[in-house]
Amino acid sequence: MSKPLVPASFEDWRTIAKARVPSFLFGFVDGGSFDEDTLRENVAAWRRVRLRQYVLRDVSATDIGTRFFGRPATMPLALAPVGLGGSLGRRGEVQAARAAAAFGVPFTLCTPAICSIEEVRAATSTPFWFQLYMLRDRGIVRELLQRARAAQCSALVFTVDLARVSIRRSDIRHGMTSAPSTRTALARVKAVLARPNWLWNVALKGGPLVFGNLKEYVPKATRLEDFKAWVDAQFDPSVNWQDIEWLRTQWDGPIILKGLLEAEDARLAADIGVQGFVVSNHGGRQLDGTAPTAEALPRLAGAVAGRGLTVLVDGGIRCGHDLIKARALGADGVLAGRPWAYAMAAGGEAGVHQWLTHMEAELRNTLGLMGQTRLADVGPDQLLP
Ligand SMILES: Cc1cc2nc3c(=O)[nH]c(=O)nc-3n(C[C@H](O)[C@H](O)[C@H](O)COP(=O)(O)O)c2cc1C
Repeated sequence: MSKPLVPASFEDWRTIAKARVPSFLFGFVDGGSFDEDTLRENVAAWRRVRLRQYVLRDVSATDIGTRFFGRPATMPLALAPVGLGGSLGRRGEVQAARAAAAFGVPFTLCTPAICSIEEVRAATSTPFWFQLYMLRDRGIVRELLQRARAAQCSALVFTVDLARVSIRRSDIRHGMTSAPSTRTALARVKAVLARPNWLWNVALKGGPLVFGNLKEYVPKATRLEDFKAWVDAQFDPSVNWQDIEWLRTQWDGPIILKGLLEAEDARLAADIGVQGFVVSNHGGRQLDGTAPTAEALPRLAGAVAGRGLTVLVDGGIRCGHDLIKARALGADGVLAGRPWAYAMAAGGEAGVHQWLTHMEAELRNTLGLMGQTRLADVGPDQLLP
């Protein structure tokens, strides 16, 4: 695909991003696990959902606003946590958080971010969400939560689909997960030199590229790979539902479990008293062969109907009308990961803002063409069986 003059779709942002960042970084973001069946299906499943078109209704005004945990949002979308996302643009998470705040949607800062909680907090006055991975060292987890609280993070997104880091072949191919060797180091240097703008603007002027939230806990780490190896070793495969009880003693704000795909787990989440969950397969980066999220969503939403939870979904959301499909299938909102990461790589803060503006325009356009005026009123009746 040739580089577009003006990006107009997810594929356009992706094409520009690919030309801007080193190949190993692009591969890290773009790839999924194993044969990437779930990654592909996530996108395809939204496309299979069919919308109904009603005509001759006054659709001159459309209402797409919502509230997440009491706070208003311009539309029901949040920026998903994207590890290393900040390495796609200069101090990338700061830029993305600012764009999200200006547009009026939540930004989620992940545990393995480049910019720390404090750096993002200092750059925006709008509260953001913090994503937590349970680390073996619970003392560090406790400290991270204290820092998130001090930064007034308005929700805790606790990711539960990473009992083990899955096998991502793109990272193996690019030497991201193998033991360092002269060959992979040289290939890395070559990939960086092929993107001099990134080298200058992001790595040199925007550095250091370290895991901002974790640097004090890994004093000897200097390269991103050192941090990644430390985090991968810290992921705790023993995490279970009792840890959620513990988490609730450490965090008094809303807790969102991210990575549910089974109705039984959705019911357990409701029983344990969390405020919401994300129907997610980690963007096709964890268990390959799972259901695409558009397919899983109605089962999970149905399982907790009437219990007051906020049901979110992510994976393959590429276009404004995917938000309508998600709403019709039972979601209160969506998260998007790669879309903001590519918009960031392509255009920084302005790029992320522009992408959000496109999503809003696509959403309003589709709603009107369906003969609907309020997104909140969209339900399964607006879909063809
Ligand atoms: C490069 C990359 C890094 C990610 N890192 C995290 C992370 O640190 N924590 C997390 O909960 N999810 C992480 N995710 C998953 C996203 O939060 C989200 O579930 C996924 O990207 C949604 O799919 P989409 O990219 O098709 O929108 C990551 C996704 C990508 C693409």
